[in-house]
Amino acid sequence: MTSPILVTGGTGTLGRHIVPLLRAAGREVRVLSRHGHAAGDGVRYVVGDLLKDEGVEAAVDGVETVLHLAGGAKGDDQATAHLVRAARQAGVRHLVYISVIGADRLPLGYFRSKHGAEQAVADSGIPWTTLRAAQFHDLALKTAAAMARLPVVPSPGGLRWQPVDSRDVAARLVELALDRPAGLVPDLAGPKVYGLGELVRGYLRSQGRRRPLLPVRVPGKVGRAYRAGDNLTLQGAEVGHRTWEAFLAERSGASARPSSAAEPIG
Ligand SMILES: NC(=O)c1ccc[n+]([C@@H]2O[C@H](COP(=O)([O-])OP(=O)(O)OC[C@H]3O[C@@H](n4cnc5c(N)ncnc54)[C@H](OP(=O)(O)O)[C@@H]3O)[C@@H](O)[C@H]2O)c1
Repeated sequence: MTSPILVTGGTGTLGRHIVPLLRAAGREVRVLSRHGHAAGDGVRYVVGDLLKDEGVEAAVDGVETVLHLAGGAKGDDQATAHLVRAARQAGVRHLVYISVIGADRLPLGYFRSKHGAEQAVADSGIPWTTLRAAQFHDLALKTAAAMARLPVVPSPGGLRWQPVDSRDVAARLVELALDRPAGLVPDLAGPKVYGLGELVRGYLRSQGRRRPLLPVRVPGKVGRAYRAGDNLTLQGAEVGHRTWEAFLAERSGASARPSSAAEPIG
């Protein structure tokens, strides 16, 4: 009998795609969550909090493979250090981590903490695999929808994303988790690079709405890093096959129309 695979963050956007894929591969799944959930169909939940370092030993007990997806706006380095310590003590044999493209380059707190977490995984002494992914379509949608609520939508010049579908990321991570530890593997990005304004335009079009776009410049070193494309992998990345347009069409229940829905002003 094989041991269960522990999925931290198994209740999140990515985790909700991962758990059924692991089940389809015939694996028992244990999910670490801060909240209690009823067990079902080969999935058991353990209550714990990685940041508070609570319930982590029980979560890793008897587990050989850990898929570490849990994360938030801050503290992923610390949360990961707690997981790594417990996993090492429990004799985990493969630790799989999801990070973000640009973790080692973007001068922003979230990216720095993802990089700290990557280092905790790489220095853990546990055989590991880390995949850096681009921003998920789900996040692009949330961002575009928030920006589209403004009467005039700021369009930061030179700020580009290559959003990837979380289902493509899930499929790749499951493949990696069921294979041998591979270290830092090629990044996974979406099929196309978009300016942030283009993402908002696509969103507006899918909603049949219009808004004026106002070009703005992101100042300082963060702006320079984005304009240099430090959050992108333009060469050598693996590419997810689902497009932003297809994702929007699924979410809005209608195909995006070809005409422009937002006009640049200024
Ligand atoms: N979203 C993106 O565009 C993107 C891009 C690249 C990489 N990533 C990385 O992919 C991972 C998953 O992202 P996501 O968008 O699926 O996240 P999400 O939807 O925000 O879900 C976050 C998950 O983390 C768990 N979690 C948060 N804090 C925790 C804590 N202190 N202890 C234990 N569990 C905790 C939550 O579980 P409970 O609420 O059940 O406790 C939840 O399952 C993250 O590591 C993120 O950095 C995301």
